[in-house]
Amino acid sequence: MQRNRVLAFLLLAAQLLVQIPESCAKVPALIVFGDSTVDSGNNNQISTVLKSNFQPYGRDYFDGKATGRFSNGRIAPDFISEGLGLKNAVPAYLDPAYNIADFATGVCFASAGTGLDNATSAVLSVMPLWKEVEYYKEYQTRLRSYLGEEKANEIISEALYLISIGTNDFLENYYLLPRKLRKYSVNEYQNFLIGIAADFVTDIYKLGARKMSWSGLSPFGCLPLERTTQLFYGSKCIEEYNIVARDFNTKMEVKVYQLNRELDGIIVAGVFKSV
Ligand SMILES: *[C@@H]1O[C@H](CO)[C@@H](O)[C@H](O)[C@H]1NC(C)=O
Repeated sequence: MQRNRVLAFLLLAAQLLVQIPESCAKVPALIVFGDSTVDSGNNNQISTVLKSNFQPYGRDYFDGKATGRFSNGRIAPDFISEGLGLKNAVPAYLDPAYNIADFATGVCFASAGTGLDNATSAVLSVMPLWKEVEYYKEYQTRLRSYLGEEKANEIISEALYLISIGTNDFLENYYLLPRKLRKYSVNEYQNFLIGIAADFVTDIYKLGARKMSWSGLSPFGCLPLERTTQLFYGSKCIEEYNIVARDFNTKMEVKVYQLNRELDGIIVAGVFKSV
């Protein structure tokens, strides 16, 4: 599944590039928001138990190092960055080993375990999405003082923004709550999350972002963790979850279509067909 996601991302990046006129086809930076699917090490720097800086994570990474990526090797943004002719790994914003010179061509604000809903990030004390945006604002300030207003603004508007988030809202939050304590029906919760997603896109658009790739939810009922822990299903995929993911993607696809019409100059592409 990880490999399918990588391919979906790469196809999308290529698709975005062909839509953009030749004169500005070069993407100067890759900027990443989201959860463990795209976190390249931010959680190492915060107080949470949700970390991956130990073996067997990273055993296929360049020097077998567990970087804080939730993967045996590189993650999708790293491959996309390389595919765009940028760095072969996207540095985590909170990693003190990197500075603004590194971040000028790519930076990751993602935090494993986070979600669209503030309550999701609170479960494991990770960075809420609004905090990722706060760091992105700080990054813009640093980029402007490093490169000057004009060059920094060019990077901000021409960069490709990758967003991968939403699974944890269901798996680490909604479905962990006893049925009686749930404030929303699944349908209502999906709508609530879609509203937050749209606000997020609008927020970073107002801050200058233009080219975005929104990764839809994967069929999370087939995640090994779910198949292992939900014994009732006897290690098979949990179809109920896959349906939730598919419905969420359908709704998000409609929202992305609206955002593309409403926000002048934005290009949001979505990967919604993988479920
Ligand atoms: C999440 O928390 C932030 C910071 O407190 C707040 O600004 C934002 O409105 C909250 N989002 C939602 C959807 O409640």
